[in-house]
Amino acid sequence: MKIVATTTQSRPEPDCLFRYFLKDSGFDYIPRKGRGLKTIQHDSQADAVVVWQDSGPVMYIGDNKFFFHPSMAKVRLSAYRKKGQLDPLIEAAGVNPGDSILDCTLGLGADSIVLAYFCKGPVVALESSPAIAYTVKWGMRLYKSPLLWLSEAIQRVNVLAADHLCHLASLPDDCYDLVYFDPMFRRPLLKSETLSPVRLLGDLQPLSEEAVREACRVAKKRVLIKERAGSPEFERLGCHRTVGSIHNSIHFGIIDIEHEKGGGTHE
Ligand SMILES: C[S@@+](CC[C@H](N)C(=O)[O-])C[C@H]1O[C@@H](n2cnc3c(N)ncnc32)[C@H](O)[C@@H]1O
Repeated sequence: MKIVATTTQSRPEPDCLFRYFLKDSGFDYIPRKGRGLKTIQHDSQADAVVVWQDSGPVMYIGDNKFFFHPSMAKVRLSAYRKKGQLDPLIEAAGVNPGDSILDCTLGLGADSIVLAYFCKGPVVALESSPAIAYTVKWGMRLYKSPLLWLSEAIQRVNVLAADHLCHLASLPDDCYDLVYFDPMFRRPLLKSETLSPVRLLGDLQPLSEEAVREACRVAKKRVLIKERAGSPEFERLGCHRTVGSIHNSIHFGIIDIEHEKGGGTHE
């Protein structure tokens, strides 16, 4: 996918942060020269155009617009803060403060933010689609909220544009407490999701057994996989048990590593 980046009409010269973004992402810079985005896309034969705004990058692809916003993370964390409603991901993950976490599927970053809030430390989040990785990474960096608890959780997410199998293979044994996967469902849950930007821009490959094996080597406590309730993926990927409410169409598959590596079995 060819992605180019440009400025807004009102600020035609790239500022310092935009230059860092260009260097980090490797996206080609196209001077705006008063042109509309459709013209820039056509002239540069690009699939998508990123417009650098003060609030972060906004990606235009066809008639869709993609940018970072913590909406779902904010709703989930507010439900916990206001009503004590524990998030199903956090229950399934068994996160404790101080746990080290690797999220292998960043997407829009909602799960990473929720995990960062509860572990109270950094979460490393991997994303193999450069379009998503750099838009979310820089959107998170520039996101401003009057809610300190939200900003702090967002700033603890360290995004790496990387394929999770390659990254996991480069890591030593037992270096994260939790390794988490939320792969794209083979079929979207809702019809409306078919056209969601993450589906348009994301990596749709199924989660590989090799990636889960590597995750089990890298994790000290637990590997967690999100899937549709009743999905055959849980068995294919070797989950011992699944958790989730009967009222929820999404469940979590759990591989307990202490059990897997023989820890704690004293006979
Ligand atoms: C369903 S979304 C994750 C949503 C995320 N949990 C959230 O809260 O927004 C799956 C994401 O994983 C990414 N992905 C798929 N395969 C990957 C891989 N091999 N390495 C890294 N990221 C991958 C996709 O591009 C997509 O953005």
